[in-house]
Amino acid sequence: MPTVKPLSPVLGAEVTGVDLGKPLDDATVAAIETALDDHLVVVLPGQTLTPAAFTDFARRWGRPEPHVIDQFHHPESADILILSNVKHGGKPVGLEDAGSYFHTDYSYLDVPARCTMLYAIQMPASGANLGTTFANQRKAWEDLDPATKKRLEGLVGRHHYGNRDNLDETTRTVASPLNRDQKAKLDWVRHPVVRTHPRTGRKTLYSISGSSFGIEGMDDAEAVRLLDELKVHATQPKYLYQRPYRVGDVVIWDNCCLLHQAPLPDPTTARTLWRITVKDKGPTLAA
Ligand SMILES: [Fe+2]
Repeated sequence: MPTVKPLSPVLGAEVTGVDLGKPLDDATVAAIETALDDHLVVVLPGQTLTPAAFTDFARRWGRPEPHVIDQFHHPESADILILSNVKHGGKPVGLEDAGSYFHTDYSYLDVPARCTMLYAIQMPASGANLGTTFANQRKAWEDLDPATKKRLEGLVGRHHYGNRDNLDETTRTVASPLNRDQKAKLDWVRHPVVRTHPRTGRKTLYSISGSSFGIEGMDDAEAVRLLDELKVHATQPKYLYQRPYRVGDVVIWDNCCLLHQAPLPDPTTARTLWRITVKDKGPTLAA
């Protein structure tokens, strides 16, 4: 059975003793799922995966959904989005910047992401290989005072693809720009500001940064003020954890209870990861 070792007091665990390139029994997958429920991020180091093996593993967790940025899907598996700053013949092989502001994946979709999986293939020399920064939104919720909790319960956020703090498509910290066809596929969706995790039943602040542009029944300026206040609270250093990625790492994170921020990699040193995003079972709110 896998060995689970916490990486920090705030979140994260390393899971060893598992070869994701081989078929896994249900008990092993369940042990990794429990580690994720407990620690919100799990790192499985030293993996060697083909696109098919990575996709097969992801499918054990739910339904992978190909990213709206379809020009960087892996040619052997559309479920894999290539993240890379490498260019072949002047043409990028992957998406270079992947959300360098606090957000959670697919919160702009009615059925958001259960978890995201990254497989590190090519990393710069140590020192330049910063990993994703994660913020524990379950702890941030638990630490709020009772009056604030009461005020937030039942509020419904209005979400759309994008970064509410930066809509300037000429900058690197904007959400990855979409073409007209890709934009046409996306609409406004609703999610609770306080979500209950579908597996653990524990409450968490949900997607208060990134795709949240408003709150139903509230003036937009007032809603953004409240969301900004929550973001300042929920991204304090005491809720954060970051670990540099190493070649062969598979990193899985829970998108219900975390915000995350991708690093802005140095464009002169090659960095390539594969990403698969697995969907939740259904919408966060009843229709
Ligand atoms: Fe992301």
